[in-house]
Formats: sequence, structure tokens, C-alpha cells
Amino acid sequence: MKRVITYGTFDLLHYGHINLLRRAKEQGDYLIVALSTDEFNWREKQKKCYFDYEKRKQLLEAIRYVDLVIPEEGWGQKVTDVKEYHIDTFVMGDDWVGEFDFIEEQTPATVLYLPRTPEVSTTQIKSDLKLN
Ligand code: CTP
Repeated sequence: MKRVITYGTFDLLHYGHINLLRRAKEQGDYLIVALSTDEFNWREKQKKCYFDYEKRKQLLEAIRYVDLVIPEEGWGQKVTDVKEYHIDTFVMGDDWVGEFDFIEEQTPATVLYLPRTPEVSTTQIKSDLKLN
């Protein structure tokens, strides 16, 4: 069984997220989403989520492409996660291109950056709705 992992905040879930998750799942048979916790988002990105961790997790778990949601609590856990969950493919959107190449050096996994869906983001939705 081929196992895939991806990371993100997935706040105000939108079709760009669904596109990313669908293509991530196409890389294998089992997709794990490491979902940023509220504390991690605030501490490291100064981002306050509209939906809290438990609600974002529930939404992701309802998506057919997602098999397991685990917490992302810090920048340093990726190599450990990839080893612990026996990941074959590490997927990120291409806004992160190059940033995670070190995972290929430190684990047996392949790193893949998928093109972002144009013209949609949580930040854009919030700003259009004047939520921040
Ligand atoms: N993503 C994507 N296409 C988009 C928006 C997001 O493929 N239009 C991907 C990101 O590249 C990432 C995952 O979805 O791999 C989760 O992204 P996240 O940062 O949570 O979503 P954004 O909408 O980019 O949120 P923000 O505006 O807060 O950065």
C-alpha cells in the first residue's frame, strides 16, 4: 500500500484544498493530512483560524480522499512523521517548492509539489468577506 502525507491549515475549506487533496490521494492508496493546530498557526504564522482545530479536522475527515488526520504542532516533525507512518510520497502545494527537498535526503520518501489551484485562498476569502 502506497502512503501519502500532506500538511496544511485548511481553514474555511475551499475547492483549492479539495483539488490538492484529490491529487495527493491519486499518488497512492492512503492519505494522511497533518493539520496545523491553532497554537502552531498562532505561534509560528501569527494566523488566527476561523474554524478551530477540531472543526477543521471534522471537515477533513468527511472528505473521501482523506484517510487520517494528525496534528501538525511544529516545523520539525516532518521527517519523524514520514518515518513513523512509512510514507512513500510527501506532497505540498507549489507555494512551498524547494522548501522540503531535505525530506528526500533524510527519508526514503519522494517529495512532490503540486500546482496550486489559481485564484482561491483562505486569505482571499477572508479579505473578500472582510473577516480580518
Ligand atoms: N492549496 C492549493 N490551491 C489553492 C490554495 C491552497 O493547492 N488555491 C494547497 C496549498 O498549497 C497547501 C494546501 O492547499 O498544500 C493547504 O493550504 P492552506 O495554506 O491551508 O490554504 P490557503 O488557501 O493557501 O490558505 P492561506 O491563504 O491562509 O495561506
